[in-house]
Formats: sequence, structure tokens, C-alpha cells
Amino acid sequence: MATYRIRHCERLSGEISIHAAKNAVLPLMCASLLTKEPVTIERVPELTDVHTLLEILSDCGVSVRRDGDRNAPDSTLTLWAEEPQSPTSGDLLSRMRASVLVMGPLLARTGYARVALPGGCAIGQRPIDLHLKGMEALGAQVQLTPGSVTLQGTLRGGSVYLDFPSVGATENIILAAALARGTTRIENAAKEPEIVDLCTFLNEMGAAISGAGTGAIVIEGREALHGCVYRPIPDRIEAGTILCASAMTEGSVLLRGVRPDHMRALLFKLSETGVTLRESPAGLRLSGRASQPVQVRTLAYPGFPTDMQAPMMALALRLRGTSVFLETVFENRFMHAREMARLGAGIRIEDRIALVNGGRVLSGTDVTSTDLRGGAAMMLAGLAAEGETVLHDPCGHIARGYEDLPSMLNHLGAHITVEGFPEG
Ligand code: UD1
Repeated sequence: MATYRIRHCERLSGEISIHAAKNAVLPLMCASLLTKEPVTIERVPELTDVHTLLEILSDCGVSVRRDGDRNAPDSTLTLWAEEPQSPTSGDLLSRMRASVLVMGPLLARTGYARVALPGGCAIGQRPIDLHLKGMEALGAQVQLTPGSVTLQGTLRGGSVYLDFPSVGATENIILAAALARGTTRIENAAKEPEIVDLCTFLNEMGAAISGAGTGAIVIEGREALHGCVYRPIPDRIEAGTILCASAMTEGSVLLRGVRPDHMRALLFKLSETGVTLRESPAGLRLSGRASQPVQVRTLAYPGFPTDMQAPMMALALRLRGTSVFLETVFENRFMHAREMARLGAGIRIEDRIALVNGGRVLSGTDVTSTDLRGGAAMMLAGLAAEGETVLHDPCGHIARGYEDLPSMLNHLGAHITVEGFPEG
């Protein structure tokens, strides 16, 4: 249970480095199940989701070594899956959605996987039908029981069409197909940078994957993969969250170690608000005044990321006029709007559309973190509110996906104090 006390902030300024991407690191950690050799991942961020997945992997028989100071930005993780097995603890898996990514590698490596149905943020139904459709296309027998799923079989290549370009399903199928006999083709695959990162990593382990970053990914199965040392991509959502915070406060912030090419949709939308964005070898700088309202439609990559919808809505609270948000990826992802209204925001929700009447004076009060990105958005909203905002995060949502977001914002001039344990 953590409580964040956020004081009104006039202006953020300064420079900051961005951590490695949570959504890249988690699938890489699961990929370690595919080889009996050690796999080393560099710059692993200090996140609750990383810790939970480490517990799950340990439960799967994976040896874990974490080098360096756990709180150092360059902490290195070595995972060694000599003889992996299915996890025994369903409770751990039900804590996080990405835990389902142990399914594909375990099945491919051992011919058997039994996993509890995954948890994570309650931002929608979040079924795993597309994951299972992929495993069946590779020849797995799937048996669903209440609360868990069992898969078995020797995998062979197959063709899969995804009805939606699901990030997790694309990753799980790639992971399974890497050790399947023959060629697998995924049509309407997700194109997110984290998918490309996973495929680059797997190719370094000896896999043969082409087409990553396009809608058609081809995987030539290999008999075995080997270990490697890898540095994941920077976190485009953490970077985007800091940019929104800066834009809200008419700040001038330089982000170091980012990939602006992974953030085009967001950068276009930020420019539409009136801020200036400048890319240079030193990094990505945002400055100037955000004033114009925006229209945002969340989509699969390269569209506007659903994970940035809540932080962008926090920014919209400052934009004079009506901003429009259409959430097309998850059906229940406006929970933060209710909390923003407690600060005095004018937001109307109609099904998957949120109309944000920006420019109102916001006043600090007690609010609650509803989910990971919604919680971060409330921290941003607190910067804009007059007086003090007390953000309660009873489930530790924010620390699941941000490595010490309050410290990052404080480094840029915010005043946020933390009481209790961020990890919930
Ligand atoms: C990943 C990200 C998450 C991000 C999301 C969308 C990780 C660890 N998490 O989540 O931060 O918000 O992508 O960019 O990378 N769906 C189905 N059936 C399935 C799978 C998904 O219907 O089998 C639906 C979901 O309910 C949702 C949509 O597809 O409506 C997108 O989900 P998906 O892309 O799978 O998201 P995740 O991989 O869970």
C-alpha cells in the first residue's frame, strides 16, 4: 500500500534518462525458458512486475542471478533454465497478465505446459483465446479447466491469422514456434517495437525469425537455441509519461536514451497541442506551451498506444477546449476519468469515448490509482491540481510498471513524497 502526496508543480525542467522497457523485458525473461544455456539481460528495471515474473520463473525451475546493486539503473539479470517445468503456484500467475508468456516456451521446450489463467490490470476482459488458437495451430492439444489451461504435444510449424494483432498472442506464438519443427507464419501479427526486440533477441539465441515489425512474421523452427547477452529497448511509455508531465507544466525536459522512432504517434499528438519537440544526439527535448485540445484514437502500433491514453488525458485536463479520446483496444480503460473528476475535471464518458473539457481549475484531494497507467496519470493530474493531491495506490499499480516515477518527476522539479511501500 503506497500513498503519494503530490504538490502542485509550476514547471518541470531538466534532463533524465529513460529505463529499459517493461514490456520488452518481460517477454525476454520468458524466452530464457527456451534454452538450457544462461541468458543475460542488461539494464533490467526495478519493477514489481519483474520481481513477480522472477518468482514465477524460479517456480518453473529457472536459476536467477541479479548482478550489481538492485537499485542501480544497470542491474543485469542472468536466467538459466536447465530443466524447466510448469509453475506450481497459480497465485503468482494470476497477479500479472504477462505471466501467460511462460506457456509458449514451456510447451515448445518440454511438450507440456500447465498455467493458471493470468491476471493483471482490470482494464478489460483480456482473454487468451488468440494465444490458444496459435498453440493449436502449432499442433498443441489444449484443455481448459476452471482457472487454468493445460497444453501438450510436439510442436510443428503452422499458419495462424490473429483476429486482432494482440501483442501477447504474437509473442507467445513466436516463442513456441522458435523450437517447433518446420515453418510458422503469423498473419496480422502485432508490430510493436517490443515484438521486434523479442525477435532480435531470439535471433541472437540462434532462432530464425523474419518479418518482425510487419504484419507477417515467419519463424523457421530450430532444434535448440543458445544463450546470449542482450540490452533491451528503452521504455516508450515511461518516456511518453514524462513528456506529458512536462507538457502539462509548460516545462522544458530532455529525455536521454529514448527511441523517438518508437513514439511517432504520441509525438505527433503532443505537437498538435502546441509544444515543441526537438530530436538531437543528446536526446529528445520537449518545451513550450501545450494549449490546443486533441483527438486521440488508441490503436495497435504504429497507432496511438492505449498505454498512453491515460497520461495523455491528464495532459488534456490542461488544454482549453474539448479533447476527444476513443479507446478501441481495451473496453474498460477510462477508470482514471472518475478519479480525475474528483479533482474537478470535466469528463464525460460515452461507452468507449471520453470527452474532456479541459482548462478547468483542479483542486487537490484524495484520489485512488485504478490501474498501472491510470495511476501514473493521476500522479500527473496531481501536479496540475492546486494544493496537495493524495494518491492512494493500495494495489501498488504504479510500481508494477514504473521504476520510481516520483523520483523521476522530483528530479525534474516536482514535489512528491511516498508513504508506505510502492509495491503494494
Ligand atoms: C500488451 C502490453 C500492454 C498493452 C497492450 C496493448 C505487455 C506486457 N503488455 O498487453 O501494456 O496495453 O499490449 O498494447 O506487453 N485479446 C483477445 N484475445 C487474446 C489476446 C488479446 O481478445 O487472446 C484482446 C484484449 O482483450 C485486448 C486486445 O486484444 O482488447 C489487446 O490485447 P493484447 O495486445 O494482447 O495486450 P497484452 O499483450 O495483454
